[in-house]
Amino acid sequence: AKITFITPDNESVTLEAEQGSVMELAVSNNIAGIDGDCGGVCSCATCHVHVAPEDVAKVGAASEIEQDMLELDDNANEYSRLCCQIEISEQLDGVTLTVAG
Ligand code: FES
Repeated sequence: AKITFITPDNESVTLEAEQGSVMELAVSNNIAGIDGDCGGVCSCATCHVHVAPEDVAKVGAASEIEQDMLELDDNANEYSRLCCQIEISEQLDGVTLTVAG
């Protein structure tokens, strides 16, 4: 699946992967603002992204644990996801995620 990241500098970077989490993809390609400090266990919120409104159905909703983490983040809105909790699959092809910083 091809996934486009909008970085904090407003740069658009499109990456492709078949599996793993979106956070792993972003970290291994040095996407600014995605740190993945907790290693992907939903406890740091340094992988926060805003899903493009038209892609929300493809990406799906945050779990309850994820929502609890997001509530602690001032930048959170209805489009927020922690991208370590998004598994890459063909279903994600073409989605755009804005790094929430
Ligand atoms: Fe820590 Fe996603 S990498 S919450």
